[in-house]
Amino acid sequence: MHAVGIVAAAGSGLRLGADRPKALVPLADRPLVCWAVDTLRDGGVADVVVAVPGDELTAFATVLPLDVRLVVGGATRTASVRAALDAVSDPARPAADAVLVHDAARPLTPTDVVARVLAALAGGAPAVVPVLPVVDTTVTVDDDGRLTAALPRETLRRVQTPQGFARAALVDAYERLPAEVELTDDAAVVRAAGVPVTTVPGDERAAKVTVPYDLDLAELQVSG
Ligand code: C5P
Repeated sequence: MHAVGIVAAAGSGLRLGADRPKALVPLADRPLVCWAVDTLRDGGVADVVVAVPGDELTAFATVLPLDVRLVVGGATRTASVRAALDAVSDPARPAADAVLVHDAARPLTPTDVVARVLAALAGGAPAVVPVLPVVDTTVTVDDDGRLTAALPRETLRRVQTPQGFARAALVDAYERLPAEVELTDDAAVVRAAGVPVTTVPGDERAAKVTVPYDLDLAELQVSG
């Protein structure tokens, strides 16, 4: 199976309070995007396409290996992955059977997670996501913040990346998705096209860096 990796790295650093795109924020002196690319490569996915902000191409090219392909991302994560997927489908390159889509914002994802996703794809699953259980009581609230319902947490899962897909299924699902629709992950895109999504165990270390506390925690993990 030939798998290609996509790293979504075109987001801003707004919630992190960063002075640069989040994917360029350093963790132990290395930009987050470099950690994410390494996870895919160490997991056996050598060919990687990274979606980056259009005005930061040079900055990303400076920190990433020469053989990582860069594409200009979009205003939403969905648009960024769509742009990278176009590059993956380049007819001049060997056709990939599978695509793994990973967030640059999950720098400490262990390669075991990549292995589990690849194994499920090799076993015939058209779409695979790593998940973790929800350990807190989880509720819904109304506009005033008043609790309206408690959700049965036994059936809830937190979804991580990398998410794996049969390439044809992912390409087809993105083609069917109206251009203006924004979804928060790629499993949602294929589900909208009716593709069944399998789960494999995720890993707490694959947590997403969103706010400054997450970065502090990641720094502690790499220094400990
Ligand atoms: O904003 P959030 O942390 O959920 O973004 C998840 C991932 O999607 C990040 O790695 C971010 O760089 C990427 N992203 C993107 N293009 C956007 C917005 C987010 O590639 N327009």
